[in-house]
Amino acid sequence: MIPESFIEELKYASDIEELVSSYVRLSRKGKNSKGLCPFHSEKTPSFTVYPENGSYYCFGCGAGGDVITFVRQVENLEYVEAVRFLAQKAGMRMPEDVQNDKTAMHRARILEINRETARYYHGVLMDEKGGSTLNYLRERGLTPKTVKRFGLGYAPPGWNSLRDHLRSKGFSNEDILAAAVVSRGRNDSIYDQFRDRVMFPIIDLRGGVIGFGGRVVQGGGPKYLNSPDTMVFKKSRNLFALNYAKATQSDTLLLAEGYMDVIALHQAGFDNAVATLGTSLTAEQSRLIAQYAKKVAIAYDSDTAGQAAAKRALSLFQETDVAVSVLEIKGAKDPDEYIKKFGAQRFQGLIDGGKSAVQYEIDKLKERFDLDSPEGRVAFLQQFCKLMAAIGSDLQREVYISQTARELDVGKEGLKTTVESIRKKRFYAEEKKSSHNLRAFAQDKTGKARSKEGELRGEMAQRAVISMLVRHPDYYKELRGKLTPEDFYNEDLRAIYGAVIHRLSENGSLEPIYLAGQLTPSQMSLYSQLSAAGREIQYYRQQADEYMQAILERKKNKTPDEVAQMERAEYQRYITSLTANKK
Ligand code: GTP
Ligand code: MN
Repeated sequence: MIPESFIEELKYASDIEELVSSYVRLSRKGKNSKGLCPFHSEKTPSFTVYPENGSYYCFGCGAGGDVITFVRQVENLEYVEAVRFLAQKAGMRMPEDVQNDKTAMHRARILEINRETARYYHGVLMDEKGGSTLNYLRERGLTPKTVKRFGLGYAPPGWNSLRDHLRSKGFSNEDILAAAVVSRGRNDSIYDQFRDRVMFPIIDLRGGVIGFGGRVVQGGGPKYLNSPDTMVFKKSRNLFALNYAKATQSDTLLLAEGYMDVIALHQAGFDNAVATLGTSLTAEQSRLIAQYAKKVAIAYDSDTAGQAAAKRALSLFQETDVAVSVLEIKGAKDPDEYIKKFGAQRFQGLIDGGKSAVQYEIDKLKERFDLDSPEGRVAFLQQFCKLMAAIGSDLQREVYISQTARELDVGKEGLKTTVESIRKKRFYAEEKKSSHNLRAFAQDKTGKARSKEGELRGEMAQRAVISMLVRHPDYYKELRGKLTPEDFYNEDLRAIYGAVIHRLSENGSLEPIYLAGQLTPSQMSLYSQLSAAGREIQYYRQQADEYMQAILERKKNKTPDEVAQMERAEYQRYITSLTANKK
């Protein structure tokens, strides 16, 4: 068995797009990439790569999986061989031969260089060269204690102060370059990456310095410069100050945009604040937050860019279990300025009164229409009903519909009917789409129908339950104990469902790479197809319950042979149960 920690590391080290790109020419389409499938011949690309969860799926031939499955399929390797192949590519040693793990040593050296760099910059900030910068930080309200706690520093203006310092400590050019604290110039010379900047060290959960953010003081260049990704640093899966925030008792995290916001928040007592690292929130970061918090309060800048970013963040959090609220930073441009102007107590007030994500969307919608005119109200209500139709929880829909009906002085029942009819339409459209997919699936390679039309519903139900779990792992709580793998009568789907609920029972992630060890490549393909379907289809609770029933009922139906062999009493019970179901 390859330990999960190793697979996890392999996952971060192996980029699916990069891997696939060495076999297939890919082009970006929004979040995903497309190309011509390497597993069947085609003229228009239907092979899709989903960087978000490290998977791929071909809508043409149904091949799909994770990085490991891709290597298995394309290189024709066994599971362990494929893992070894990827590990070698990533410079990782297989678990069985870690003793002289060069990579681990290399990593340790890079962390050491980063630590030394942070120490050096902090030293410069504290001696006379850093005087004016330290003053700048003081003027911005940072106490000496805060400066120390966050290990802030100053990168001097020269081109090689840090380089020379690190060399004097005995680090090689190669290692300093790998840490990305210097860059390579012409004729192979190397020079300091950060010059004349306030330095913010980025610390991971184990306390290692993994990278830096640097803000200009007077010099030119971009306002912020961040370390590029290195062997020890992946921007998309770390958060600034999570090392401190995770230690707080609070079940809430505060998500801000900037380093300075986080630092000001911590200084004011909000030690549960974190920020992304010079990029907008990624799906990985939203999942990371979900691991540490039940609730997240988004405290982004009050400008348009900040509000747009908050909206994007909201939709990422919708894929997780965390409850989201959005703070309205009124009268200041960001949390840092807000606290300076109005104090910590009023900021706490913002958190306490933070709007729910839905309320936030409704308010945004209101701003777009003139609610004083009848036409404006009608146009608003149309959009409002669409918004409501997308909400899965009956209770929430009820609350917001009643509230809005009251506010606009319209009948609540009318709104409810409209919302329900939109939901029904969507439901049927999705049902149609998935049964279309299913028909394609039910044909096996020789074109023979795998199952009769009558079996479609049961088959579809088994698939839908898995898709649903991928998208809403929370649903596991409802299924636990009610629907077991044995209830699945399609062998592949039974194996997949078994693997999925096993992971969920251990609180594991359902990213495909973690299932690759238990499922065959063709099961992995099917799993990817179901994940892809889960991405596009919205499942409603009630629909999911029906699917579960359909599986259980299909299992109850016996073949004529089975019925013929039944004992009399059993036969009686069977007939009774069938008639009971008809009601
Ligand atoms: P101050 O302006 O000093 O208060 O810092 P701030 O953190 O409030 O900065 P701002 O609101 O301008 O930007 C928010 C965050 O976006 C920063 O903390 C950076 O992480 C990031 N950012 C801002 N400017 C740049 C840039 O030029 N390049 C990159 N990569 N990131 C930036
Ligand atoms: Mn700011």
